[in-house]
Amino acid sequence: MTALLVFESMYGSTAAVAAAVAAGLAELRIPVTVCEVGVAGVPTLDTRPSLLVVGAPTHQRGLPTSRTREAARADVAVTVSRGDGVREWLDQVVGQASGQAVAVFDTALPGRLAGSAAHAIGKRLTRAGAELVMPPESFTVTGRTSGLLPDELEEARSWGRSLALFAAAVGAR
Ligand SMILES: Cc1cc2nc3c(=O)[nH]c(=O)nc-3n(C[C@H](O)[C@H](O)[C@H](O)COP(=O)(O)O)c2cc1C
Repeated sequence: MTALLVFESMYGSTAAVAAAVAAGLAELRIPVTVCEVGVAGVPTLDTRPSLLVVGAPTHQRGLPTSRTREAARADVAVTVSRGDGVREWLDQVVGQASGQAVAVFDTALPGRLAGSAAHAIGKRLTRAGAELVMPPESFTVTGRTSGLLPDELEEARSWGRSLALFAAAVGAR
């Protein structure tokens, strides 16, 4: 079993969650590759992983758009993701997603209303025939640019461990 984790991140919180989820998968001896979305290729039927994990920050209750990324870039000198994001990457991936085991996560502010990047990613992938091995997961930031709540990285690592177990249970190889 192998895992590919693809993430988008502006200020670094989603990147930190991605690293913690990967550490949780690795704890259960799942070989995992972590890629910022701008350098992630598109898995084909030949190269696809047993488990695809995709994460992004929640912007305007959904996936970042070119406009929300522009707004984010105005906040800081340098952002982690600098080009297109998960939204555009999914455009290329959905054609090959049928039967792919997937898990999705986002980062978001506390007390948010309905709508999240993870649900948007999950919806696009499941519509394309992918199978969610666990429900979409959200990790909470303290503010737009100010980083994660204290326990979120441990939660992310624990979610990574659960993913390894659930993926094995649904027969991802
Ligand atoms: C333009 C913009 C719109 C945002 N909209 C939302 C939102 O609708 N709901 C929410 O919970 N957080 C929202 N946020 C906060 C982001 O979720 C937060 O910046 C993100 O989780 C940080 O992750 P990152 O460090 O990986 O970029 C927004 C942030 C930006 C920059």
